[in-house]
Amino acid sequence: MKKPMRILSGIQPSGILHIGNYFGMMRPAIALQDEGEALYFIADYHALTSLRDPIALRENSRRVALDFLACGLNPDKAALFLQSDVPQVTELAWILSTVTPVSRLELAHSYKDKVARGAAAAAGLFTYPVLMAADILIYDSDIVPVGKDQKQHIEITRDIAARINETFGSARKGPILKLPEPRIQKQTEVVPGIDGQKMSKSYGNTIDIFGDEKETRKRVMSIVTDSTLVEAPKNPDASTIMQLYGLVASKDEVQEMREQFRKGGRGYGDFKKQLFEKLWDYFAPMRKRRDEILRDKNYIDDVLERGARRANAIAHEVMKRVRAAVGL
Ligand code: AMP
Ligand code: TRP
Repeated sequence: MKKPMRILSGIQPSGILHIGNYFGMMRPAIALQDEGEALYFIADYHALTSLRDPIALRENSRRVALDFLACGLNPDKAALFLQSDVPQVTELAWILSTVTPVSRLELAHSYKDKVARGAAAAAGLFTYPVLMAADILIYDSDIVPVGKDQKQHIEITRDIAARINETFGSARKGPILKLPEPRIQKQTEVVPGIDGQKMSKSYGNTIDIFGDEKETRKRVMSIVTDSTLVEAPKNPDASTIMQLYGLVASKDEVQEMREQFRKGGRGYGDFKKQLFEKLWDYFAPMRKRRDEILRDKNYIDDVLERGARRANAIAHEVMKRVRAAVGL
């Protein structure tokens, strides 16, 4: 029998989840839970590179679990767990770091961007991609669904795995680590924020998945537009409103809004109202599910515990293989 494909992804609990996270990573990850053995985790070790508030870290981690479950992650199909419940990843990260060239890490955009925006140049921030490689390689992952900003990290992961295989593998025993493939959805690889740049918690341009109604409306109404007058035709291809509407409306509805843009006669404010309504309806079933989960006190803990057990069983086997291969 063919082994099911193993799908793995992680998300940092460093803030509140926004619709860029949802369309870029969570929705594709949730869709993949039906296609193989899915493992999704909350990257709390990684979040320590930017969050140094223990209470906030613990709260955010639970909240990410809650939001992921509310959005449709089915714990009977996909394992959901905390990264730090599988501490062997830090052991694997150490082993990987011994073959990782510093020059490779120096080229990572994510590190350079964060330092350019004022983050302290800590060793953990610099070696972030090595820990991420360990996250992926410790489960023999086949596919990693992520947004485009993570593509380089997956390339580094493949590079590190290949180095381990070259250094410690042999023709007789075969490769030690499996090379994963990124899965990046073309339509949602970069979801724009309300200022038109990539939506990101660090740019303050987000629309949160579970923001309250008033705040969400306010965010949508403050999407930046040009100063084209109400009567004048507008360019649908250069509009953040259109891009976000495309994520939540049907093909016909998108087509209709595009035509109204071109025709003129409707102002941006009007289009934003329409976008808000669609967006609010889109997430209504998830809000309902979220309320249900919140009523069951032990649900999240139980899910995380079950997930950790499954993840640990896999990680244990892979670590046995790695330790034997390197001579530990
Ligand atoms: P982060 O919040 O950086 O941990 O990101 C979690 C996941 O969401 C990663 O797979 C990112 O690639 C994805 N993601 C974050 N922001 C966006 C965005 N604006 N568009 C598409 N994907 C995103
Ligand atoms: N670096 C990822 C992000 O910021 C989170 C992450 C950590 C991850 N480890 C991972 C994603 C492993 C996929 C696979 O979004």
